[in-house]
Amino acid sequence: MTKCKKIASLMTLSACLFASQAMAAGGSVHLEPAEIDPDNVSSLQRGARNFMNYCSGCHSAQYVRFNTIGKSLGLSEEQLVDNLMFNADKTFETIKSSMPPADAARWYGKAPPDMSLMARAKGTDYVYNFLKGFYVSPESPTGVDNLVLAGTSMPHVLWELQGFQAANFEHHENEDGSVTTTFEGFEQLSPGSMDAEDYDDFVRDTVNFLAYIAEPIRSDRRKLGVWVIMFLIFFFILSVQLKKQIWKDVK
Ligand code: HEC
Repeated sequence: MTKCKKIASLMTLSACLFASQAMAAGGSVHLEPAEIDPDNVSSLQRGARNFMNYCSGCHSAQYVRFNTIGKSLGLSEEQLVDNLMFNADKTFETIKSSMPPADAARWYGKAPPDMSLMARAKGTDYVYNFLKGFYVSPESPTGVDNLVLAGTSMPHVLWELQGFQAANFEHHENEDGSVTTTFEGFEQLSPGSMDAEDYDDFVRDTVNFLAYIAEPIRSDRRKLGVWVIMFLIFFFILSVQLKKQIWKDVK
């Protein structure tokens, strides 16, 4: 095989791998961008509250400690205890789910996964669309299915906020007899306590918090990065000046 061919086949292979990863993450469904703002501390605080109230009953986040969250989100120990620590006593504890995993697996057929790294594993757009993607499906044991994770065993836990929606699908029969199904949009069946815009914001804040717990040192890392780059620029200027000085007599 010539060098050129080798390079071409490597490129094709990596393109395939990339495509299969993208498919695994979102299927063939178009994902709306989550547009989270990781530097918005109020959004992260609201997200933490949403997560503790609506998700931690089933999902743990076993790699993140309450005191780390408190520090990053500017919350005092008292605020942490009063607003977030429903199922923990000490601030150095991690977020545990209120439900024993064995029971959860029995009840839902699948244990709710830990959320520590979910936003990194699946992507923030995926989680955003997952939380917006529940639709009524009478055949499902939970009464709902999900557009991005078909056949999911997670119930629509945010139904009081979002209300219930139906998904419209169109089926086209191809010439070879196979059927292609396309998603045409959602239709609101019953209202929730929030309108669509407020629900989007609620989900966006929650996803923002999930992205934060997936990498709690993100903002420290970025701050340090700026200093490192400034140091490199300074050092570069210094070395150029030094070089000029040292070589000025050598013609
Ligand atoms: C009543 C229990 C319950 C609650 C409450 C709950 N979930 Fe889940 N969740 C599950 C179960 C069960 C699964 C596994 C679903 C599956 O794989 O089909 C799951 C899976 C997920 C997944 C992974 C989806 C995937 O592609 O594998 C995400 C993301 C998620 N939940 C986010 C949340 C968020 C965010 C909240 C809070 C708003 C929440 N869940 C509240 C039970 C719950």
